Amino acid sequence: MTRKEFVKNHELTEKFLEAADRHMAELGYTEHGKRHATVVSENAEKVLRELGYPENYQELAWISGYLHDIGNLISRETHGSTSAILAKDILDDLNFNEEEIAIVMQAIGNHEEETGDPTHPVSAALIIGDKSDVHRSRVRNPDEIKFDIHDRVNYAVIESDLKVEKSTRDISLILKIDEEISSPFEYFEIFLSRMLICRRSANVLKGRFHIFINDVRML
Ligand SMILES: [Fe+2]
Ligand SMILES: [Fe+2]
Repeated sequence: MTRKEFVKNHELTEKFLEAADRHMAELGYTEHGKRHATVVSENAEKVLRELGYPENYQELAWISGYLHDIGNLISRETHGSTSAILAKDILDDLNFNEEEIAIVMQAIGNHEEETGDPTHPVSAALIIGDKSDVHRSRVRNPDEIKFDIHDRVNYAVIESDLKVEKSTRDISLILKIDEEISSPFEYFEIFLSRMLICRRSANVLKGRFHIFINDVRML
């Protein structure tokens, strides 16, 4: 079993993710469970792979992605820090070394746009992976999208793809939005702060972050 599989199949990981997603569901947030963990971990790993970072960093980005939101089981507020502390228990069990644990904890602890400061490639990749997960499949109650802008914007996203151009180091989030449901303007209304931290993260990776909505470059 690989270390990624160990982390994914660890009993605490499964239980924490379930409890976190249950709490988010009760509070009316979009999906924050296994699906989100999987998408974010794969995107974070891909960013570092495409940009030529060492395999060990790619693996740590995947692991940070899988565990980054487990702290939501405690509370939404400060869940970056609590996720980082909870992740340590899991990594301790699997004999990760201190340096690796520190990289993962720092990445997870800095993933939220309100308080996060990316300074390490693993942290930057996690942020881009996380903020790029906007998609209709995250919406729990499609009947109620007219009442909630986050649900509406996510539900409007029919296709979402993160492209990384090796030679130019351009990192592009490419979205197809159903403009009958939500407009690109609404998207920016709620996601501007997320896009700004993605731009800072791309700087850490010596690249540039772009966003395309319905083939129009917005950033
Ligand atoms: Fe989060
Ligand atoms: Fe997240």
